[in-house]
Amino acid sequence: MRYLPLLFDLRGKPCLLVGGGEVALRKAKFLLKAGAALSVVAPDICPDLEALLQRFDAAVLRQAFEAELVAKQQLVVAATNDKAVNELVANRCRELGVLVNTVDAPDHCDVIFPAIVDRDPVLVAVSSSATAPVLARKIRADIESSTPANIGALAAFIDQRRALVRRELDESAVRLFWESVVESEVAERVMAGHLDSAEQLFEEKLRAACEQGQCGEVYLIGAGPGDPDLLTFKALRLLQRADVVLYDRLVSDAIIAMARRDADLVYVGKARSDHSVPQPQINQMLLDYASQGKKVARLKGGDPFVFGRGGEEIAGLSAAKIPFQVVPGITAANGCACYAGIPLTHRDYAHSVRFITGHLKAEANEHDWKQLVDPAQTLVIYMGLLGLENICKQLVAHGAAPELPVALIERGTTASQQIHIGTLASIADIIANRDVHAPTLLIVGNVVQLHDSLRWC
Ligand SMILES: C[S@@+](CC[C@H](N)C(=O)[O-])C[C@H]1O[C@@H](n2cnc3c(N)ncnc32)[C@H](O)[C@@H]1O
Repeated sequence: MRYLPLLFDLRGKPCLLVGGGEVALRKAKFLLKAGAALSVVAPDICPDLEALLQRFDAAVLRQAFEAELVAKQQLVVAATNDKAVNELVANRCRELGVLVNTVDAPDHCDVIFPAIVDRDPVLVAVSSSATAPVLARKIRADIESSTPANIGALAAFIDQRRALVRRELDESAVRLFWESVVESEVAERVMAGHLDSAEQLFEEKLRAACEQGQCGEVYLIGAGPGDPDLLTFKALRLLQRADVVLYDRLVSDAIIAMARRDADLVYVGKARSDHSVPQPQINQMLLDYASQGKKVARLKGGDPFVFGRGGEEIAGLSAAKIPFQVVPGITAANGCACYAGIPLTHRDYAHSVRFITGHLKAEANEHDWKQLVDPAQTLVIYMGLLGLENICKQLVAHGAAPELPVALIERGTTASQQIHIGTLASIADIIANRDVHAPTLLIVGNVVQLHDSLRWC
C-alpha cells in the first residue's frame, strides 16, 4: 500500500488515543503538538504520559476501551500493547468511517505518522509507507542535518511579504522572484537573524524585479547516460526551476519525473531515424518559450556538447541575447566505461582516448582511419551499431590488429545494461545473433581486456 502525504489540521479536533504505555506517550506528544483536542483511554497510564496529559489539560478515561468512544472522533490511534484490542479499535473505526492509526499494523491504518523534520512552520515528513520505519528515520536524519536550523524564520519572512509581492509583480513573475529570493543573500541574512539588512536587500530586489519585468532563460542540461543518480546537483536544481522541459529520447523517465509537477513536459524525440521534432524547430521552441519569459530546461542525454548538437541549440539564443546556462553531463563514454569496468586510459594499455561518431553515410569514408589506428589509444564510437561491420573492416584495413578487443555496451549505466565482448574480427558476428537494443556504444582498444577483472555491475 502507498500512502499519499496529506497534511491535516488537527487543531481543536477531537482525537482519541487508546493506550497508556510508552508507545501511546510518543503518539500523544505528536497529537498534542498538532493541537488536537485529545482524550486518552486506558486502564493504566504510565507516569510520563500522565504528566504530559496534565500539562495539556487533556481528558483521561481510566477504563478499558469501549466501542462507543469512537463516535464523533476525527482520528483514533490504537496504541495499546494488546494486538486484539488494537484490532477491535480499528474495526470499530472502520465501521463508523473514522480515520484510524494502529501501531505496528499497517493493514489497520488509514493514517500513518511520518518521521518529521520540524522547522516550524516548515515541516518535512518522511514516510516509507509503513514498510521500513528505520529507513524513514535515516532519511529524516539526513534531511535534519542538511536543513538550516533557522529555515522557519525564512518561511515566516516570506509569508509576511507575499501579499506585497503579489501586488507589485505580474502573476507570472511572482514565483521566479521568490525563487531568486530563497537562493539569495536575503535568505542567508534572514536565517542568520540579520533582519534589518535582509529587509533592505529584499526591497532592493523587489524594486529591481519591478523595473526589469520578467526575463526568460534556457538551461541546456546534460542528463547523463541513463542512471538518474548520475545527474549533477546543478542539473537537478535548474531542472526543478523550469516552467517547460524539452527532453530527448535518451533522457530517462526517472529524470523527467524530477521536474516540477506543474512544468510543461515536451518530448522532442531525436532517435536516429525519428526526429519527432526537427532540429530547427527545437531551436525555435527554445527561443519562443524563453521570449515568453519562461525558464526552459533543455534536457539532453549525456553531455550536451558531445555529439549532442548543444552548440546549435544555444547559437540562436546567443544571437537573440536570451540568457542561457549550459550544465555538463556525464557523457556516454564515461558512464558506459565506468559501469563496464573498462578504464578509458590505463598506463599499461592506453595513453589517449578519442571519441568519434559512427553515424556515417553508408559508403562514406569520413574518418581518417589511419589516424584512428593506434594500439595505445582507446577509441570510443558513438552511434556505431549500424555501421559496426564497416567500422571494424576499415580499422583492420588501415592497420589495426583483427584481434584488438571491442566492447559493445548496450543501454549503459541503466538496469538493463548489457555488455558484448569480442574483437574487431568477431564482434559483428557475435551480436548478429543477439537481440541488441539502442543506445549502444563501442569501445575499441586494449583496455577492453580489463573488463574481465574490473567488472563490478
Ligand atoms: C546523439 S548521441 C548523444 C550523445 C550524448 N550527448 C552523450 O554525451 O552521451 C547518442 C549516442 O550516444 C550513445 N549513448 C548515449 N547513451 C548511451 C547509453 N546509456 N548506453 C550506450 N550508449 C549510449 C549511443 O551511441 C547513442 O547512439
